[in-house]
Amino acid sequence: MPHTLLVLAHPRRDSLTAQVAGRLHRRLTDEGHTVDLLDLYAEDFDPRLHPADEPDWEDRDKTYSPEVRAHMRRIEAADDLVVVFPVWWFAAPAILKGWIDRVWNYGFAYGRGKPRLAAKRMVWLGLAGGPSADYAGSGLDVAMEHQLRKGVSEFCGITASSVRLLHDTELSGVPKAQRAARVRDVFAAADAALTSFHASALEPANT
Ligand SMILES: Cc1cc2nc3c(=O)[nH]c(=O)nc-3n(C[C@H](O)[C@H](O)[C@H](O)COP(=O)(O)O)c2cc1C
Repeated sequence: MPHTLLVLAHPRRDSLTAQVAGRLHRRLTDEGHTVDLLDLYAEDFDPRLHPADEPDWEDRDKTYSPEVRAHMRRIEAADDLVVVFPVWWFAAPAILKGWIDRVWNYGFAYGRGKPRLAAKRMVWLGLAGGPSADYAGSGLDVAMEHQLRKGVSEFCGITASSVRLLHDTELSGVPKAQRAARVRDVFAAADAALTSFHASALEPANT
């Protein structure tokens, strides 16, 4: 059965983002996957790139910090990478960006003729407060998709990768009576995204 690295990037345990990650965790486990939950805030991940983890363009075999090497091992162990995050400023939150900056490093994630991560499958699940129409109208959905899928996953050789945005996740202005239905919609969208990821990831992307 596949082993999934489930990455969560939200500071609050009762956030919708954390609830979605918890739901996917339970489902993956129920379906027989083994799951390594990487809760970046709970593990107090330091997103700052210190000199120890700066790439050395003349040495792709550089030994990075012990913390980064431990994270690299967790990625290496996974068949599937499922990344759950809130959309902040139409991008990934800083802690997640820092995880990419530090861990998806030169010589490990990219910079080799045969990419080490190529056989993995990856899905980015972003919870967006705004409606999908706003994203489509502004092109920000395409921008995020390009940045994360092409700019990170495919850059690192992971062709079986996709970005799914779950919209209308900001509930603060929603009347209390309507919130439960809204949460159910977000959960249903997350479930559908995981189902579609597992189905589509069997075929490498060709775009
Ligand atoms: C700092 C910050 C920036 C945000 N930027 C965006 C944004 O660019 N686009 C968007 O749709 N929602 C944005 N939001 C709303 C979040 O995406 C939304 O609050 C979140 O998905 C709701 O779920 P949560 O309970 O997990 O935080 C932002 C929220 C915060 C706190």
